[in-house]
Formats: sequence, C-alpha cells, structure tokens
Amino acid sequence: MPVTAPHERVEIDLGDRSYSILIGSDLLQDPQSLQALPRAAQALIVTNTTVAPLYAQTLRDALAGLHEQVHVLELPDGEAYKDWQTLNLIFDALLGYGCDRKTVLYALGGGVVGDMTGFAAASYMRGVPFVQVPTTLLAQVDSSVGGKTAINHPLGKNMIGAFYQPQRVLCDLATLRSLPPRELSAGLAEVIKYGPIYDMAFLDWIEDNLPALTARDPAALAHAVRRSCEIKAVVVGQDERESGLRAILNFGHTFGHAIESGLGYGEWLHGEAVGCGMVMAAHLSQRLGGVDAAFVQRLTRLVEAAGLPVRGPALGAERYLELMRVDKKSEAGEIRFVVLDKPGSAVVRSAPDAMVRDVLAACCEQG
Ligand code: NAD
Ligand code: GLY
Repeated sequence: MPVTAPHERVEIDLGDRSYSILIGSDLLQDPQSLQALPRAAQALIVTNTTVAPLYAQTLRDALAGLHEQVHVLELPDGEAYKDWQTLNLIFDALLGYGCDRKTVLYALGGGVVGDMTGFAAASYMRGVPFVQVPTTLLAQVDSSVGGKTAINHPLGKNMIGAFYQPQRVLCDLATLRSLPPRELSAGLAEVIKYGPIYDMAFLDWIEDNLPALTARDPAALAHAVRRSCEIKAVVVGQDERESGLRAILNFGHTFGHAIESGLGYGEWLHGEAVGCGMVMAAHLSQRLGGVDAAFVQRLTRLVEAAGLPVRGPALGAERYLELMRVDKKSEAGEIRFVVLDKPGSAVVRSAPDAMVRDVLAACCEQG
C-alpha cells in the first residue's frame, strides 16, 4: 500500500462553479482525493498513448467505487493532434458507449489531453462533468486550472474552445517522476511566469531552488505547484472569462504562440515557446519603460538555466507580425502584448510595429 502524504489544497472560488485543486504524492491511490465527486454509471478516462500505460489502470482502479463502467480512450500523443479530428474521437467514444449527460470525463495527461477533454466535456450533450488529472508540470501549474479548454486551428493556436470549469483538479506529484527532462523544463516556463507578472518573492524562490526543481525534489515541486496554483486561483477568481486581469497569465504567449504556429505545432513545446516568448516580452517591456536591462538579463538567465530556449526561430519579422495578429487579445487587427509595467506587475498594451520589429531583431535568429 502506498504511504499517503497529507494533501495540500488550493480552492478556486467561482460561486457555484468553485472547486478544489488537490496536490500531493500518490493522490491517485488515495480514495480521499475522490470524495464527493459526481457519481455516475459511466465514466470515460481520456488519455493518450504515452500516459495510458503509465497511469490509466491506477486511475481506473481508483474509480471503480464511483462508476459501474470506466472506459479508457487513448488519443494519439502530441500538440499536432489537438484538433477537430482527435476531438471527434472523444465524441465517437462517448456516443459509442451510450454515455448519458451524467457521464464523468477524466482528463489524464498533459495540457493537450486536458484542453481537449475539457472542450469535449463542455460540448457533449451541452455539458457533462469532468475532472482534471494533470500529469505534466505544465498542466499541474497552469493548464488544468481555470477552465480554459480549446483545440488549435491551422491558422491559430487555441482558437476554438470554451470556458468550462472542472469539478476538481488532482495534481499527483508522483506522476512527474516519469516526465522527460525536456517536458519538465517546459513546465518550469509556466512556473517562472508567475514571478515577473505577480510575485517577485516567488521569482527569488525559483532562482534559489532551480537545482532542486530540476532534480525533482518532492518538496520543491510541491511548493512550485502550490504557489503557482494559488496565484492562478486569485487571478481566475477575479476574472474567470478574461475580460481584464486574467490576460496577464499570457505573459510571453503572444510571441510564443507565433513561434508554435509559425514552426508547426509540436516543433517547439508550448513551454519552450512561452519561455522564449517571455524573454521577448521582457525586451518589449524594457523598451516601453517598465523594466530595466538588468531585469531583462535576470529573466533571460533564469529561463536559460531552466533548460529553455531564449532566442526565437528565424521566421522573419513580417511573418511574426502576421502570426501575432491572429491572437485572442488582438483588437481590430492591433496586436496587444502582456508587458511588465514594473517587476512583479503586468499590463496589456499595444506597441508600435517598429518597436516590435526591433525586439524581434534583438531576440531572434536571423534566417
Ligand atoms: P502535452 O500535453 O503534450 O504533454 C507533454 C508530453 O508529456 C506528451 O508527450 C505527454 O504524452 C507526455 N506526458 C504527460 N504526462 C507524462 C508523465 N507523467 N510521464 C511521461 N510522459 C508524460 O504538453 P503540456 O506541456 O502538458 O501542455 C501543453 C498544452 O497545454 C498546449 O496545448 C497549451 O496550449 C496548453 N495550455 C493550456 C492552458 C489552459 O489554461 N488551458 C494553459 C497553458 C497551456
Ligand atoms: N494559461 C492562461 C490562462 O489560463 O488564462
């Protein structure tokens, strides 16, 4: 029997859509973590071909007391599959198994599985309950929390989706042991993000504890996941549907999404694109007067030390600008960036194209 450490709990306060994020090791083997979840005859675990052999049976066993039938659907693995065709596999399974509107979906995997399962849950029979079981660092600190669900379109990242909150988020830290090092680094990008936009003391802590984080020290990972979720909970609690404040969580993402769609989804990992995008957004913040060169260097050093790229690919400035116009923050074709107005605080601003070209010239490889 696994020894169950006490769980940490972060609450997302959204009125009747409130829920808990549970954080701890071996949560999937602890019946307490499933207490008071919706009971239904059927459940569908949505996962992928990489994660299923590692954790699907453990989750299936844990759910046996909640559901009479627990089906498992393995999607193909990768950002390139975050699309209509793959989403449709979830609907095929739900309809094929005769699932009704009480059926509970469990998203077991990283952000790709989480975003697609959430979107399927939002739309199947106009909405069925779902639980996030994130197994990447990125998904535990960001994508499983807050209810953003989506698929990609060839013309733009996460362009088709819905806001739809899960019933619970189960962050089992033990699952991070099997994560490839490149994926751990990708998750660190989203952890680092919370520092410059919200909490400079957390940025200090990440700098001090980066070796422990990359060595997967359980206490360091637990703190990183908990503090990230606490910050996200405050932001989402104030602005669930991103009418203002929540946009700060997209620091680095305008540049990053352009890299991801410009290179083709999956070429760079999402976290890699965000890490590099944060460096570019810091350069832009400096030009807009929010931070100084020393801060830009500090953030660049940290992103690099986390094992992430700090120079953008040579897409060409015009292609970057074209791609960045296809962004949910754009208004009337004007690109809007999340920039730092001071260390620890972010705002959404537009910037002259000439200034953005200048940043791209400074931060990207030249092709
Ligand atoms: P991912 O889902 O592709 O997972 C990364 C890789 O790790 C995959 O190959 C996966 O199969 C594998 N994997 C997952 N868990 C594992 C484990 N425990 N052991 C071994 N391998 C494991 O990528 P990601 O970085 O988790 O998520 C990125 C996605 O999340 C992007 O599509 C991004 O747009 C989205 N995202 C969404 C939000 C949101 O708020 N909804 C926020 C940030 C990112
Ligand atoms: N990852 C950005 C958000 O959840 O708003």
